[in-house]
Order: sequence, then structure tokens, then C-alpha cells
Amino acid sequence: MDAKILEKYKKAGQIAAHVRAETEKKLKPGMKLLEIAEFIESSIRKKGGEPAFPVNLSLNEIAAHYTPVYKDETTVEAGDLLKIDIGVHVDGYIGDLAFTWCSEKNPLIKAAEKCLGIGIKVSKPGVTVSELGKAIEDASKEQGIGLIMNLTGHTLDKFKFHGDPIIPNKETGNTHAFKEGDIIALEPFTVESNGWVNESAPTEIYKHVMDRPVRLKEAREILLMGRDQFHSLPFAKRWLYDKYSPVKVAMSLRQLEAAYAVEGFPVLKEKDGKKIAQAEHTIIVGEKPLVTTELKD
Ligand code: CO
Repeated sequence: MDAKILEKYKKAGQIAAHVRAETEKKLKPGMKLLEIAEFIESSIRKKGGEPAFPVNLSLNEIAAHYTPVYKDETTVEAGDLLKIDIGVHVDGYIGDLAFTWCSEKNPLIKAAEKCLGIGIKVSKPGVTVSELGKAIEDASKEQGIGLIMNLTGHTLDKFKFHGDPIIPNKETGNTHAFKEGDIIALEPFTVESNGWVNESAPTEIYKHVMDRPVRLKEAREILLMGRDQFHSLPFAKRWLYDKYSPVKVAMSLRQLEAAYAVEGFPVLKEKDGKKIAQAEHTIIVGEKPLVTTELKD
């Protein structure tokens, strides 16, 4: 990998790590999710990065894709499992990390961290997608806990969260082998027994997919923002309210979604309401796997 690109991956990872550390110090039961989101996203910018996606603040049976709504009054309370997924990019090079916060000790959190740690250890050149998934799955079984079976890790590239190959947290038979310098994000989600997530309301996160003609002027402007300002990375409805009214934002996104110009990311909820923990790091595959999002200094 080009040395300049490597530096950007490291910088993005370290911004995410520092923001995580600051957030951990600040969190208290009773805090509003909106306050936490604004703190995290402004800290990323202050440190010279940009959010690679709106911070995900997912409570309990919500696995992912919750980001605060307009004037969100939701709070995190004692005993809640709050999954905080932070993405930072520096010139498009992404650091993606997640952790779970709870005011009390919770075995699911430790289990997620342990599964992630084992996945990181095997992230060496030549490891296949299936072997990596199996290592994480075995780690969960050894601890007697389950995983969300339809959520996966993924690869990363400039301005991109790749779907190919995805990295399921289980043995799949996929013989695609990773090589030195590949950028991957591993993110096991732990539950008391194997679980499954379904799409659910609300949808607060969108991304630009392609340019398409739409009627509303605001919709055309939002599409261009999604493409040029957010680089076709995910953005939040919330980020548009300093320019447009909530009504105009909602109308515009409806038009854009109907035209396949943007894609929405609905909240993902465990189908039986089981509580979920999550841990995630970004890793550069190597003989010594490099975890870019681990706090270095
Ligand atoms: Co990720």
C-alpha cells in the first residue's frame, strides 16, 4: 500500500479511537442519544476527519442503523446496551469501529470483544472468508453465547463499504483468501442465543446511489449533496435540517428513494427482541494484523 494512503487509514482509525475514548468518559445513564451523536460527530470534525456515516446509536434489541431523529428525546438508561458505531474518513480512507456501552457489567459485551479479538488474530494473508467466519463462530460457541446470523463484517476501500466479499460470522465455504494490505472490518454481534435481525422503522440514514431526474428542487439539491458533499457515503436526515425543513427533507427523500436515486438504511431489530452487544475494529491484513482503530497513544 502507498505510504500516504496507509497514513490516512491510520489517521482515520486514530481519530475514531480517540473519539471513542472521549465518549466513554462522557457517557452516563439519562443522556440523550441526540447529545451523544452531536458530540461524536463534532469531535470527528474537530480532529480533522469527516464522519464516514452518521454515528449509529442502537439500543438493546436494535442492532444497527439507528441514528437520532429530529429533536430526538430518546435517552440511554441504566442497564441498557448501547451500541456505538463510529465511522471516520480522511480523504475517503475509512476507520470503522464499534463498541457497546452499559452502566452495568454485561457478559454479552465481553463476549463480543473476545470474538472480535480472535477474528483479528487470524486476519493474516491467506486466511479465507470462511476460516475467518468460523474462528469468530467458534469463539462464540466456546463462550456459550449466540451471534446475529444475518449481520456480517465487510471490506473497505476509498469512499466505500464493500459488499464483496462480505465476512459472515460463520463458516460459509467461501474460499476467497485475503491478502497483505486488504482493509477489513470485523463486527460480531452477540446475543444470548443465535439471533436474526429484520428491517424496521425508522429510516434516518440514506446514501446517494445514482443521479436521476426528480421534480422537487430540494430533492435535486439533496441528491447533489449526497454525491458531492457526502461522497456517496451514508448521511443522516438530521444533517439536512439546518438547510431544509423536516417536511421538505421527508418529501425529497421519498421522491429520491422512489426514483432509486438514494438508498435508505432502515433500523435493524432482533426479531424476538433479544438484546444485542457489538464490537468492531478496522484491520489491515498482514502477518501482524494492524488494528487501525485501536488507541495507540
Ligand atoms: Co462496519
